[in-house]
Parts: sequence; structure tokens; C-alpha cells
Amino acid sequence: MESAMAAQRKTLLLLSLLLLCSITSDADAAPKQQSLDRISALPGQPPVTFSQFSGYVTVNEHHGRALFYWLTEATTYPEKKPLVLWLNGGPGCSSVAYGASEEIGPFRLNRTGSSLYLNKYSWNRVANILFLESPAGVGFSYTNTSSDLKNSGDGRTAQDALIFLVRWMSRFPKYKHREFYIAGESYAGHYVPQLAKKIHDYNKASSHPIINLKGFMVGNAVTDNYYDNIGTVTFWWSHSMISDRSYRSIMDHCDFSGERTSEKCDEAVNYAINHEFGDIDQYSIYTPSCMALPNSSTIRSPRFKNSLVRRRVAGYDPCTENYAEKYYNRPDVQKAMHANSTGIPYKWTACRLFSQFNLIFLNLLYMRDLSRYDVFIKEGLVIFCVGQ
Ligand SMILES: *[C@@H]1O[C@H](CO)[C@@H](O)[C@H](O)[C@H]1NC(C)=O
Ligand SMILES: *[C@@H]1O[C@H](CO)[C@@H](O)[C@H](O)[C@H]1NC(C)=O
Ligand SMILES: *[C@@H]1O[C@H](CO)[C@@H](O)[C@H](O)[C@H]1NC(C)=O
Ligand SMILES: *[C@@H]1O[C@H](CO)[C@@H](O)[C@H](O)[C@H]1NC(C)=O
Repeated sequence: MESAMAAQRKTLLLLSLLLLCSITSDADAAPKQQSLDRISALPGQPPVTFSQFSGYVTVNEHHGRALFYWLTEATTYPEKKPLVLWLNGGPGCSSVAYGASEEIGPFRLNRTGSSLYLNKYSWNRVANILFLESPAGVGFSYTNTSSDLKNSGDGRTAQDALIFLVRWMSRFPKYKHREFYIAGESYAGHYVPQLAKKIHDYNKASSHPIINLKGFMVGNAVTDNYYDNIGTVTFWWSHSMISDRSYRSIMDHCDFSGERTSEKCDEAVNYAINHEFGDIDQYSIYTPSCMALPNSSTIRSPRFKNSLVRRRVAGYDPCTENYAEKYYNRPDVQKAMHANSTGIPYKWTACRLFSQFNLIFLNLLYMRDLSRYDVFIKEGLVIFCVGQ
């Protein structure tokens, strides 16, 4: 533990130096890159009054890792509104697909993937919203070093997101010192507080911190595998989505802390999902599922390792991710968004399965013990946790 902490501190110091260098050398290029990132209009977009920017920020030159962001500024007085970073979970799900296109973003997609319409509940009515596809490998974010995808994890995700933020702010200097919040859902129940911790430590180590972190918010958050998984299975059972027999078998064979997987557990869960669920969307059991709609080609979302809790599909059109996959794979849409400029060798998908996502920070970072959120509370941060 001792040496891990020391190593962590050393990394932090190195990181601070690295970031400092990048800030000074990028300063002149910043306004130019910002204007290159401006979206003039997305294909099929209705007229809007707010500005949008999107593009890449390199977070690791050596490996060629770059994260994709989409900033939708506030509809009124953006210079007076806070900045909110939004993260979806998975691990492996895209903030462009879910956060931006079916949850809190300004646009919704129509069924044919040919046009956009306005979401009247968009959060950019009250804040500047920065959607980040994270970690590298998700959505349009990529790495040129394929082994990065095999050893991805919470630790690097938080570190890359911090580097992203600092470099992004040097491209958008007006957001330095701006009131800043981090928000996310599902597996972002890990990403969000871990990034908050990174920022907090980074600010402590810096004489002029630029990230004015005021608080964070997690919804439907994955915090503790054990209780999240038991809660999920009990929900299935108590809502008659699975049989008594499957419930018993899952309870008997699964290790809910998710540290070990077993064939018997997988069998019991897969049987329940494939033979007992029916066409029910577990995220919205009283609305039609996408599969129940005519001509749907949706396949069941993959079961993410370590957790039975998958990304949550909000809203009442359960097929939105299919429209998103049509729309965001269009070459004209990618061009308008400055996305996929390097020719990523696979299609854009709403979620990608990470085979080995390393939960290394899980225990270090208080996830087991929610009361440890008080580290942040003592620093005056505002924290919201919203249940399912
Ligand atoms: C990844 O590789 C492509 C093709 O060589 C290159 O154009 C791009 O700049 C690289 N990305 C990063 C972040 O270095
Ligand atoms: C989607 O938008 C296109 C182009 O505006 C329009 O022709 C089509 O009818 C729309 N489809 C739906 C389902 O709204
Ligand atoms: C579904 O597919 C059938 C046959 O391909 C087609 O005739 C029908 O119009 C489709 N329905 C919808 C709602 O797209
Ligand atoms: C990127 O563009 C190439 C064509 O240049 C396309 O084949 C690929 O599917 C795209 N990938 C993503 C992630 O958008």
C-alpha cells in the first residue's frame, strides 16, 4: 500500500509536469484548433442558436491515444453558465450514442438516421455540456496501439480523462476556472468519482489550478458490484421476469462481488435472459422493447463482465441506439463532426465490449464504502446520487 501510494504520487508529479509543458507549447495553436473544431451544422440538423464544437484531443502521443469530445454550448449566455462533463458507462458505451443522442443532449435522432430534432429537456438549456467518449476504444475515441484495448481499466480511464481536460481547456481557455461539474451514469459511477479524485489531487499539486471542480453527479451508478448485482437479480425475480428456479440457481452459483466468474453462474444468468425475460427491456419493463417493435434488428446487448448492470436506456424509444449507429456511421456526419479523421478500422458502435477491463482503482478509491464520499464533501464539493 505504502509503495503504491508513493508510486501514485510520483505519477501525479510526472503528470503535472507533462501537462504543464503541453499547456505552454499548445498556447498559440489553441484558438486555431478551436475554430477548426467548430461544427457549422450537422447533416439534417434543425437551426439552433448555440455553438457546437467537436474533435480529438491526444492524451498519449507515444501510443497514439486520442479522445473524442462534443461540446454543445448553452442556449443562452454560455459565458455565464457552468461546464458539465458527461460520461456514459459500460465500460465501453458511447456518450455520443446515449448521453448526447437519447438522454441529455440537444438533439434526438429520427428513425431513418436521416435527420435530427430538438430535445426540449436538453441540459444545454442550463449549462455547457461536454460529452466525452471514454476510454480510448469507445465510440470515435481510438488508440493506435491495439494492446491498449486489452489492458484498459479504471486507472488509465481517469488519468486520460484528466489529461484530456487540461489539454481541452488550453484549446478552450474561456473554460479555465469556469464552474465545473462531472456527471454520468451506470458504470460512470466509477469514472466520475475517480476523475473527481484525480482532479482534486491535480489541483492540490498545482499552484494555479485551472479546473474549478464544484461537484459531481452520478445516476443509476455502479458503485459496489455485490449489492448492485444482488439488487438486479432480485429486481428481475420480484418483477416476475425470471422463474423461482432461475432466481435460486443464480443466487446459489454466482459470486456477486464479480471477482470470479463461473460457468454455472453464466449458464443460470444466460438461461434467465435468453429463455425467461421475453421481449422485456430490463431498463424500462413497462414500455415496449426495441425487439417488440416491427422490423427491429436489435440483438441483445452483451453481458458486461463483472456486472449484471448494463448501461441504462432512458426515454421511450427503445431503438435509439440503432438510429445512432445509422447516423454516426454516415461519412458526411463524421466529416461535419471532425470524427474518424484517421480512418478507424471498425465501425462506430453505441457500445463496445472490453474483454478485460481492469478495475484496479476499485478498492483504493473508496467505492466499497460510500461514506468515504465525505473526502469530497469536506472539500465543499456538491454530490448528487440518483437511484434507478
Ligand atoms: C494514429 O495514427 C494515424 C495514422 O498513422 C495518425 O494520423 C494519427 O495522428 C495517430 N493518432 C495519434 C493520436 O497519434
Ligand atoms: C426522418 O427525416 C427525414 C428527412 O427529414 C424524413 O424524410 C423522414 O420522414 C423522417 N422519418 C421519421 C420516422 O421521422
Ligand atoms: C417491415 O418489413 C416489411 C418487409 O420487409 C415491409 O413490408 C414493412 O413495410 C416494414 N415495416 C416497417 C414499419 O418498416
Ligand atoms: C472510419 O472510417 C472508415 C472509412 O474511412 C470506416 O470504414 C470506419 O467504419 C469508420 N470507423 C468509425 C469508428 O467511425
